[in-house]
Amino acid sequence: MGTLDGRYAIVTGAGKGIGYAIAKRLLADGAKGVAIFEYNEENARKAAEELTAEGHEALAVPCDVSDRASVEEAVQTVLAHFGRIDILVNNAGITRDHIFHKLSYEDWDKVLSTNLGGIFNTCHVVVPYMREQQYGRIVNISSTSAYGNPGQSNYAASKAGILGFTATLAKEVARKGIVANVVTPGFIHTDMYMAVPPDIIERHTRMIPMQRLGEPEEVAAVVSFLCGPDVSFMTGQVISVSGGHRTF
Ligand SMILES: NC(=O)c1ccc[n+]([C@@H]2O[C@H](COP(=O)([O-])OP(=O)(O)OC[C@H]3O[C@@H](n4cnc5c(N)ncnc54)[C@H](O)[C@@H]3O)[C@@H](O)[C@H]2O)c1
Repeated sequence: MGTLDGRYAIVTGAGKGIGYAIAKRLLADGAKGVAIFEYNEENARKAAEELTAEGHEALAVPCDVSDRASVEEAVQTVLAHFGRIDILVNNAGITRDHIFHKLSYEDWDKVLSTNLGGIFNTCHVVVPYMREQQYGRIVNISSTSAYGNPGQSNYAASKAGILGFTATLAKEVARKGIVANVVTPGFIHTDMYMAVPPDIIERHTRMIPMQRLGEPEEVAAVVSFLCGPDVSFMTGQVISVSGGHRTF
């Protein structure tokens, strides 16, 4: 048994990348079960199979976090299987990068409704259960881009919104045994980041004091800590996992 001591978790966007690494780490740290909320059903199924083959309880739950009805249905599925939800990691996110004067309203809206609207949806459905059980650990994945990154006004707005949302939610639920914190990854070696042109990756890497990209597992380790019992007097905080790179 690890530090997560039989807890049940939801990780959104855990079909691959950082979300998958988080699901894997929570289970390795003792979580009893993890629900993978994913709109890529094939990846969700594969991820759940891999984690189950390692002897864990992993549930693939089809879910589009930007769709309230889909989130409600997914949460009901989790409650039917696990009976409770102790940990909610909001990791699902997308990019639609364009310089602002070429950014369409559709790309603005899509990114905001997924990255920020998705967190509204999951928290709005899950927090009432956590309030009732007087226990909860929420970790929201933002980004160092929250503080500004050219070509990402939509993404930065969504990720900065997560900071204000989490700071407020944390204060509202503090007396209910629920803590909510934010992790801001820097440049992490996943499909999302590797879609960036190679010359820009090179430029980014030079800006990172550690002179390398981060790995999803390095983000997952910090998230797992924030889901654990040692985080008992810390809420509404923001931790960067960025190799020392600061954008603010
Ligand atoms: N990779 C980076 O450099 C980096 C840096 C900072 C922050 N982040 C954030 O970390 C999180 C994970 O990023 P990643 O790099 O692993 O990305 P990724 O594209 O590799 O994985 C994202 C996952 O989220 C899922 N997803 C997307 N929209 C969804 C929706 N509406 N409903 C359910 N699932 C959905 C995708 O299917 C995918 O499995 C994102 O929130 C991203 O913004 C990433």
